[in-house]
Amino acid sequence: MAKKTFGIDFGTSTIKVYKNGDGIILLEKNAVSTVGKEKKPVAIGEKAYEMYEKAPPSIHVSLPLSRGVVSHLDDMVALWNFMGQAVSGRKKMKRCQFYIAVPADITEVEKQAYSKIITQSESTPQKVCLIDKPIADAYGLGLDIERSRGVLIANLGADTAEISILSLGGIVVSKLMPYGGNDFDRAIQNYVRKKYNFVIGLKTAEQLKIKLVSAMESDQSYTVVGRDVLKGLPGKITLTAKEIYPLAKDIFFSFAAQIRSMLEHTPPEISSEIIHNGIYLTGGTSFVEGLNQFLANEVNVKINTTNDAQKTVVAGIGYLSEHPKIAAKYAVPLEQ
Ligand SMILES: Nc1ncnc2c1ncn2[C@@H]1O[C@H](COP(=O)(O)OP(=O)(O)OP(=O)(O)O)[C@@H](O)[C@H]1O
Ligand SMILES: [Mg+2]
Repeated sequence: MAKKTFGIDFGTSTIKVYKNGDGIILLEKNAVSTVGKEKKPVAIGEKAYEMYEKAPPSIHVSLPLSRGVVSHLDDMVALWNFMGQAVSGRKKMKRCQFYIAVPADITEVEKQAYSKIITQSESTPQKVCLIDKPIADAYGLGLDIERSRGVLIANLGADTAEISILSLGGIVVSKLMPYGGNDFDRAIQNYVRKKYNFVIGLKTAEQLKIKLVSAMESDQSYTVVGRDVLKGLPGKITLTAKEIYPLAKDIFFSFAAQIRSMLEHTPPEISSEIIHNGIYLTGGTSFVEGLNQFLANEVNVKINTTNDAQKTVVAGIGYLSEHPKIAAKYAVPLEQ
């Protein structure tokens, strides 16, 4: 018998962990800071992210995932070794089972890199299973995908937007677009530097995004601190939603165009149910003000949103980890 079962959503921005019996036990920034060639972790999560762009050269700060794939496996393994202790309360996670949500629209080799996070770590698992994220997302939303003829889920995340159509328990089509909410942060950071000769960190840029990025007209403004490059001194800057809007607009239209194109290429027996029930928006970027209304207008289909948008994938992978018979229909096991 396996001791413990975990469901994991390794998001680009946030790692989410579900522990069988306990529910969602961890939401942590996907960042690790290490020292030396042996990559000894000194901090993970929010603490490591705080060091990003500020750490001395002796400390290497890594964001190990990008655009939906594991781009720095060593760093991700180092992060998981550190995190595993916190999650299990033991030095090593022995003989546990892991269900990992992976994007559907990546190669098999890229999918296997997610299982290597566990198998190359100190975890010595009993079983590792990969489940496509759109399936987990649907279960997290509480949808009956076995019987539904058509479900469209747009998971708007940090580095990716994964738009998928499901029918009768399977994925009909899934497209992983390589952009998401973190692109707004980077665009804001660049804009502030170029336009105002002012340097802000990515965390500050994210705050600005949360306060100011809107898909509707907005009169909001927000003040942040940073460094004035010309004076070489710390200072404050106030930005408005109006000047930020052009930085985000193209991505909003790309989301809409992709959803529209998918609907156009879907057989009517599937699209009619999607149009009837509406599109489901998940992922943290679905919190952008007015985005649901914008998309509803652009694609002319009702949009369903949820306050748990960042947790639907991990809730679903957790549900599947607790229902192994259902999970077996979708899981790709990697027996140990
Ligand atoms: N209120 C908000 N308004 C706008 N953006 C938000 C808000 N809250 C969170 N976000 C953004 O949501 C993103 C994180 O969402 P999520 O946790 O779904 O991404 P992820 O799963 O880590 O990324 P991915 O799925 O692309 O790998 C970040 O870019 C974050 O800044
Ligand atoms: Mg995600």
